[in-house]
Amino acid sequence: MKRKLLHVLGGGPWQLPTVRLAKSMGHRVLVSDMHRERPAYALADHHEVVDITDSEATLQLAARHRIDGIICDTTDVGVVTAAFVAERLGLPGIGYETARNFTNKGRMRRLTDAAGMVVPRYCLLSSATGLAAAAAAVAYPLIVKPVDSQSGRGVSRLSAAAGLDAAYRLARSCSRSGEVLIESCVDGSEIIVDGFVVAGRPQILGTARKVPFSDSLTVSSRIHYPGALPDAEFARIRAATGATLSTLGLRDGVFHAEFMLSGEHVVPIDIAARGGGVMIYTHVVPHVSGVNVNQAMIERALGEPVQISPLPDPRAANIEFFTMPRGRIAEIAGTDAAAAVPGVAAVHFNLQVGDQVGPLEHKDRRPGYVVTLANTAAEVIAIGRQAVSLIQVRMDGRSEFVSIT
Ligand SMILES: Nc1ncnc2c1ncn2[C@@H]1O[C@H](COP(=O)(O)OP(=O)(O)OP(=O)(O)O)[C@@H](O)[C@H]1O
Ligand SMILES: [Mg+2]
Repeated sequence: MKRKLLHVLGGGPWQLPTVRLAKSMGHRVLVSDMHRERPAYALADHHEVVDITDSEATLQLAARHRIDGIICDTTDVGVVTAAFVAERLGLPGIGYETARNFTNKGRMRRLTDAAGMVVPRYCLLSSATGLAAAAAAVAYPLIVKPVDSQSGRGVSRLSAAAGLDAAYRLARSCSRSGEVLIESCVDGSEIIVDGFVVAGRPQILGTARKVPFSDSLTVSSRIHYPGALPDAEFARIRAATGATLSTLGLRDGVFHAEFMLSGEHVVPIDIAARGGGVMIYTHVVPHVSGVNVNQAMIERALGEPVQISPLPDPRAANIEFFTMPRGRIAEIAGTDAAAAVPGVAAVHFNLQVGDQVGPLEHKDRRPGYVVTLANTAAEVIAIGRQAVSLIQVRMDGRSEFVSIT
C-alpha cells in the first residue's frame, strides 16, 4: 500500500515532534513554511517555502503534491489555512468557519455571548475611534488585546485610563486583522482544560491551574496539572467546555482552553483548536492522561480511526517559569544538572546568552521554564523547584553567578 502523505504546516522547532511522529508512524511528510531554512525540512520527504497564512498558495501546493491530509496542531497561525485546504480538497478537517471561530477572540466572544454563556463585558474596535468611550463602557480594570494573536502578545491589563492609547496601539500592532478587543477583567482563578473531541463528543484529558506572576497578571509563572477541582467545580467546567466547543463548532480534534473560575461562573477566556504550547501538547497531556494526542491528531488528519482512552486517574505535571535579573545574559550554568533530575522532562530557554532580560511584556519574554512529570501534585512541584535551584546565571558586567528564581 502506498504510504500516505501528511502536509505539516510550519517547519520550526515546535513542529518537529509532529514531523518525527508522522515519519515513525510510516507516513511521508510534506512541510511548508515561509522561511528558507527550517529544522523540520531535514526530516521531511518534501518541503516548500510557502507562507502558512496564505490559504490559496497552500491549497495549490497541497493539490500539486496530492496530499492525504493536512495538519496545523501547534500554532494558531496555520489553523485556518489547514481547515481551508482540507475543506477544498475533501480531506478531514475542522471546517473553515470553525477554524475562524477558534482563532479570533472577537468571534469567540460574540458567539459564546449569543449562546447565553457568561462572558466578559466586551467591545470590538477596528479603529481607535470611540476607544475611550468603549473602555468606559466596559469599565476598569480591563484587558486590551489583539483578536488574533497568541502567547500573550499585545495583551495589557489596565486598572485606569492612563496607558489606554498605548495599550490600544500595542494590541493593534499585534493584530493580523487589525481588530482589537477590550474586555472586562474577570476576577478569579484561571483553569486550563485540554482535551480531544471525537465525533462531537469532547473528552477532557487534563485540567490545570495557571498561576500568574504577581507583577504581571496576564503572564503565568506556573501551570500545574491536575487542577484538583472539587466535583461540583469540575462538573461546571465540563459543562462550559462542552458548551464552548459546540458553540464554536469543533466536532473532531484537539483543543486547549482557558477559563476563569469566578464564583459560580466559568467564563471562557480563550480556546484553541490545537495543542497547548510549552510542551503541554507533546509531553504534559500524554503523561497526565495516557493519551498520545499528537498521534491522535495525525490519525485524524489522515482519516484513520481515533481512539481516546484516558487513564482513570490523572497523573501530575508542572511547568515552572523562571525569572532572571534584568540585563544581558553573559553565561548560564547548571542546565545539564537540572535536566538530569529524575522527573524533569525538559529545561527550555526562551532567552539565550547575549539576550536582554527585560519586563515580562508577553510570555515569550519569560527567560524559560522547566517541565516536570511525576505521579503526584506534590512531587512535580518539588522536582521543578529542585531543577530550577540548580540553574545559575551570570549577567553581563558581573563576575558572580546568581540563582534564577
Ligand atoms: N478578560 C480577562 N480577564 C482576566 N484575565 C484575562 C482576561 N483576558 C486575558 N486574561 C489573562 O491573560 C492571559 C492571556 O490572554 P489571552 O489568552 O486572551 O491571550 P493569548 O495571546 O491567547 O495568550 P496565551 O497564549 O497565554 O493563551 C490569559 O491566559 C489570562 O491569564
Ligand atoms: Mg490564551
